[in-house]
Amino acid sequence: MYLGLDLGTSGVKALLVDGDGRAVGSADATYEVSNPAAGWSEQDPADWIAGVTAVLASLRAAYPAAFGAVRGLALSGHMHGAVMVDAADTVLRPCILWNDTRSFAEAARMDADPQARAISGNIVFPGFTAPKLAWVAAHEPETFARVAKVMLPKDYVVWWLTGRHATEMSDAAGTAWLDVGARAFSDDLLALGGMNADQMPDLLEGTDVVGDVQAARADLGLPAGCVVVAGGADNAVAACGVGALGEGEGFVSLGTSGVVLTGRDRYAPMADSAVHTFCHAVPGRWYQMGVVLAATDSLNWLSRITGQSAAALSNALGEALLPPPDVKFYPYLSGERTPHNDAQVRGGFTGLDIASGPADLTRAVMTGVSFALRDSFEALRKTGATLDSALAIGGGSRSDHWTRMLATTLNIPLERPDESAFGAALGAARIAMCGVTGDDPASIMTKPPIVDVIDPDPALTSAYDDAYRGFAAAYPTLKAMP
Ligand code: XUL
Repeated sequence: MYLGLDLGTSGVKALLVDGDGRAVGSADATYEVSNPAAGWSEQDPADWIAGVTAVLASLRAAYPAAFGAVRGLALSGHMHGAVMVDAADTVLRPCILWNDTRSFAEAARMDADPQARAISGNIVFPGFTAPKLAWVAAHEPETFARVAKVMLPKDYVVWWLTGRHATEMSDAAGTAWLDVGARAFSDDLLALGGMNADQMPDLLEGTDVVGDVQAARADLGLPAGCVVVAGGADNAVAACGVGALGEGEGFVSLGTSGVVLTGRDRYAPMADSAVHTFCHAVPGRWYQMGVVLAATDSLNWLSRITGQSAAALSNALGEALLPPPDVKFYPYLSGERTPHNDAQVRGGFTGLDIASGPADLTRAVMTGVSFALRDSFEALRKTGATLDSALAIGGGSRSDHWTRMLATTLNIPLERPDESAFGAALGAARIAMCGVTGDDPASIMTKPPIVDVIDPDPALTSAYDDAYRGFAAAYPTLKAMP
């Protein structure tokens, strides 16, 4: 048996799988995000520990025999967060999360140094870890002076379980301290933010064993010999869960944010396009992704202001895909990452008519989000990545209409997996399995069963292509809006 833990922003999910990777049982626990000031987003690491303790206790109670046979566990974690501890491993302040934007000035300063993009392969986004530490240095100097180690969120849980400070390539790639091509911390990048190598945890590959569960955690009831494997960053681990490891293997996720991701066999960064180039959670591979900040978040926003559920809005569109609507939507409700790297731009509707109704706005929102994902897809293509088909995952992919629109916009078939078969928790359990058995990740991280394939509508691809070009051309006008 193996355990995968998905430490998310709103809660933790644990999945127990057998030696064939089949799900045996799962448990969930939730926790809060606190927003003590505009743009701030924090979490108390103690809440993760309480959540992890609760899900392990639930699994132990519900599946005692399987739980007693767990040989290894691994975590997937939300990225970029900074857990700062002193020399006694006491947490110095709440963790500053991935979606916290307070360090935009520090990020811009670091990004302006040509070394940053050249070595890390990425723009230094305000959400990344390095600018958060620079912010603490500037605004909380007493805290900064006591920082003995910086850990990423899941690595704090790994330390709690094992007593070892360890991280792995996929999460370390989102710090802006890693030479992503060389898979090593960069002394130059660390120095850029006033940090040093002693403050970094041991750097492993995702499938490396960190160590045994320490005696101090005997209360969890994990069996003797159960090891903790290093794990990975959420998108990398989700990719492990759906078998997206190498060239041509990828997914499109219609979640709160939207992601187009592809595995890579080589390091091919293109920071200027705002494509993220990160190490994969398995050795010798990378992955690249474009991120649309408000994907289903845009539909949820429409749902809030119309008072209709997202499912009701979506169902009202029926089955048939129509040509691109006259009402256009630009989904920059929270700014945009790929390809614009623009935290200030805001969204909008154009083409509204006196006769426009809720269904027109729903179609506009789904089209605008699909076009924003096409922007990310085009940016990925420029790096040399190829995706002739992709898996469609995330809540929005449950809508046939939206998935068909997206397939037509990207002009590739989209495969929908069995919902129970994927997710970062499964990816984490697969990583644990690789760590314990030493098996080749490619033999374990296979594609899940596909329930259906949604093809582009050949009668509409050229109309959607034209409309996409209009969407892409509108960004400079929106950016120039006061
Ligand atoms: C990736 C990113 C998110 C977070 C939260 O760059 O910010 O994937 O890890 O899920």
